[in-house]
Amino acid sequence: MSKSTTQASEHEETRNLTFPVRRGHLGPAVLDINKLYSEHGLFTYDPGFVATASCESAITYIDGEKGILLYRGYPIEQLAEKSTFLEVAYLLLYGELPLKHELERFLDAIRHHTLINESLLRFFNGFHHDAHPMAMLTGVVGSLSAFYPDAMEARDRSQQELFAQRIIAKMPTIAAAAYKHSVGHPFVYPRNELDYANNLLYMLFALPTADYVANPVAAQALDLLFVLHADHEQNASTSTVRLAGSSGTNPYAAITAGIGCLWGPAHGGANEAVINMLTEIADIKNIPRYVARAKDKNDTFRLMGFGHRVYKNYDPRAKIIRSMTYKVLENLGHRSDPLLDLAMKLEEIALKDEYFIERKLYPNVDFYSGIIYRALGIPTSMFTVMFAIARSVGWVAHWQEMVNDPEQRLGRPRQLYMGPLQRDYLQMSQRAGKVGSGI
Ligand code: ACO
Repeated sequence: MSKSTTQASEHEETRNLTFPVRRGHLGPAVLDINKLYSEHGLFTYDPGFVATASCESAITYIDGEKGILLYRGYPIEQLAEKSTFLEVAYLLLYGELPLKHELERFLDAIRHHTLINESLLRFFNGFHHDAHPMAMLTGVVGSLSAFYPDAMEARDRSQQELFAQRIIAKMPTIAAAAYKHSVGHPFVYPRNELDYANNLLYMLFALPTADYVANPVAAQALDLLFVLHADHEQNASTSTVRLAGSSGTNPYAAITAGIGCLWGPAHGGANEAVINMLTEIADIKNIPRYVARAKDKNDTFRLMGFGHRVYKNYDPRAKIIRSMTYKVLENLGHRSDPLLDLAMKLEEIALKDEYFIERKLYPNVDFYSGIIYRALGIPTSMFTVMFAIARSVGWVAHWQEMVNDPEQRLGRPRQLYMGPLQRDYLQMSQRAGKVGSGI
């Protein structure tokens, strides 16, 4: 049956069905199709979940047409200007901005979970020096359940809290250890008197041979990037965490699944891919050739850092990062990073191009974040690791929301099967001319 015949007959079948409609506090209403299969024997088909709400959530809201992003109702612009990453983490996890003593208790808890078990630290020696830091992060976070088995009971609130504090506190330590291993430097232990961003910079760049104090602008920029990356509702990695967690697996394993998903260039890996792309373009005079390639349907090349599944307007996070980029470069003495000039010219050309205008393709959060990370001295291969540190807060908040949701069920999508009809096994001697062509 051709695709069009399939569509026509389904249209006939479905047009008289009615569904309950559920309305959220913001955003489009949803058709509740939960009984579609049990009552009508039909599935829905929506590759990439373009129009499918997989859960109810009260954490983050995006209006992609207007370029709005709210964490627990608070606009990202206000949080970026007035808050800090750990305060935002509290907000995402607990739903409200903390009172003074609540924030202090939370910061204290994070500070006291930053060390990782010494045996875990030894894992890094098993990796080649050139192992990708995301590979090391996946391996080591995946092993946390072996070291912290006392916080794995999904339904126990105090274990959930302990797990959240551990993940948020230990991600920078693990990330920094991955970096130190890749450059052959000794691991640097966290310091409790430093705040989150300063501590991470310290673990990344301090050496036993000299004192290290991070540039305050670098720490401020890092904290801001983390605020912007902390959550983004049901994005691919968060949905992966939810799907993995829905089986009841331990939360460390669910987070590890999210890290694996984030790594891809269509998602968190884009920040690394943007820098690689800009390096490849190399010169402003080459931009038109690369823009032409991005528009050519026979070429797999895409403008990395452009386009977004949800934003059909300028990504509000990209706007904030863009203005921070200048401040960081000025302060850190990189006033003229040629990649920034290239990025700005590329953005200017693409935003005037009919192809990008028609498809509403704007720079996303990752278009400029890599340029800041570069100015901070963070190597390209670490960019997605930095993203993972920030997004771990969102993953944990969504995992907790899911396990505490009374409607939560095993996530198990359906399919439209297009394979062979049932057939009988062929002996080897019967197969010639009937099967084969795989290799
Ligand atoms: N360069 C060139 N063309 C693009 C780009 C791009 N970066 N992004 C989308 N398009 C085109 C597609 O070819 C398609 O064209 P068509 O309608 O003629 O076929 C149209 O725009 C729609 O694109 P889709 O791929 O259908 O959109 P989707 O929502 O599935 O993809 C995605 C979104 C994956 C982010 C895509 O825009 C992309 O690959 N961007 C580059 C990678 C990137 O920057 N990812 C980071 C996203 S932000 C984040 O995850 C943190």
